[in-house]
Amino acid sequence: RTARFTLDPAFTVGDVDPRLFGSFVEHLGRCVYDGIYEPGHPAADEAGLRTDVLELIRELGVTAIRYPGGNFVSGYRWEDGVGPAAERPRRLDLAWRSTESNRFGLSEYIAFCKKIGPQAEPMMAVNLGTRGVQEAIELQEYANHPAGTELSERRIAHGDKDPFGIKLWCLGNEMDGPWQTGHKTAEEYGRVAAETARAMRQIDPSVELVACGSSSRSMPTFAEWEATVLAATYDLVDYVSLHAYYEEHGGDRDSFLASAVDMESFIEDVVATCDHVGARLKSTKKINLSFDEWNVWYMARSRQEAQANPLDWPEAPRLLEDNYSVTDAVVFGTLLIALLRHADRVTVACLAQLVNVIAPIMTEPGGPAWRQTTFFPFAQAARYAKGQVLDVRVDSPRYGTARHGETDLLHATAVRDPGTGAVTVFAVNRGQHEVLPLEVALHGFELTEIAGHQVLADADPDARNTLAEPARVAPHPAEGTTLHAGVLRAALEPMSWNVIRLG
Ligand code: AHR
Repeated sequence: RTARFTLDPAFTVGDVDPRLFGSFVEHLGRCVYDGIYEPGHPAADEAGLRTDVLELIRELGVTAIRYPGGNFVSGYRWEDGVGPAAERPRRLDLAWRSTESNRFGLSEYIAFCKKIGPQAEPMMAVNLGTRGVQEAIELQEYANHPAGTELSERRIAHGDKDPFGIKLWCLGNEMDGPWQTGHKTAEEYGRVAAETARAMRQIDPSVELVACGSSSRSMPTFAEWEATVLAATYDLVDYVSLHAYYEEHGGDRDSFLASAVDMESFIEDVVATCDHVGARLKSTKKINLSFDEWNVWYMARSRQEAQANPLDWPEAPRLLEDNYSVTDAVVFGTLLIALLRHADRVTVACLAQLVNVIAPIMTEPGGPAWRQTTFFPFAQAARYAKGQVLDVRVDSPRYGTARHGETDLLHATAVRDPGTGAVTVFAVNRGQHEVLPLEVALHGFELTEIAGHQVLADADPDARNTLAEPARVAPHPAEGTTLHAGVLRAALEPMSWNVIRLG
């Protein structure tokens, strides 16, 4: 059977916020040290940033970069990471049982964002685990106040004359999780988040603030947590956060390929919860969603590794270094499609994480940097998903899954660039074995040609890029895709991620 949908520029979901292509740099494992920052590496610049990694980050097209955690932030003292590097303290990092040298801190992070380019924007998390309102506003003043106060002058004395201008702030991280240092109940967190938000807005009413939602949809407090936290913070925050990671369980690849079914339901549940609180408050304001941690992550394996080898406070150990297959990249593509399909409410999203730690980019100390399979869908979406998301309602053959029930074989979205009129279709065939014929009826467009159809698929679904074979997997052009009389026709390879550009 053929999968079909119709596109019409009159029917849109919303504009793609560039912040949808954010990422995340946490002080975790080798994300910072030996990842983005490695003084002494042949490709390091004068600040110790690896220029080969910067080049790949630019190619990836990331925008907002969340920092410094993650679980790490809930025990972090931001003051440790500013001032002369030689005087910075070494500290225990409770979250990852590592030693933090603090050689990299706030100033280095801002310089890193600037070096990526103008599209990269800081997204800074404050510690609401072991700390509170006072430390958050001190950090904001140090970072953003122009001059003339002790904290702003301290920044200037540290060599950063210009304020950092950080707009986007996370009010803590995963405070619902019992593993979080300083974990809180929804009432406790709602109160401290509201107090912190109020104080931060007293300094600058234009800051954009993210309240912590649940650390996953499977948390026992999910939805009740969001409702309680938002009841306390509704007028003070702009976003609520969502975090979700997916992995293949027990060899059930069919269910894994349908992971985005869960992600879309999660988004819709959080939107409903936000709007329910808004309705109760008789508010016209809408809270948007910051999906500030998402990815494929083999968490069960990470847990086993941690149990088998409890860390004894090493510095920058190899942690959470998943090596992604083509299958992982196809699932990853469906997660991107899920975000785009909800672009009306999901206006910030961060791929967790950026380098080495569950990351699209890998590095070796003193050695090369390379692209994982997941690099490609992200880079293509960041490059071509610019403009308006079109309303895509698929009529697709379905298949059965143990975890997500009957699921469409086709998962798809489309984005129209209003400047050029070009349309890009992003489509995944979830079927493991059969080609999926696709027909897209184009109404009301002046599209005449296929500008390109790139596919990520492989005869070996477990193929990966590795240090030994860093370019084993890459997208390739598809054959036989046509556009005639307003109908796009393509044959989607089994288990494939497809980017079809129409001009
Ligand atoms: O991204 C890895 C970890 O996952 C983050 O530190 C935490 O917020 C989440 O549980």
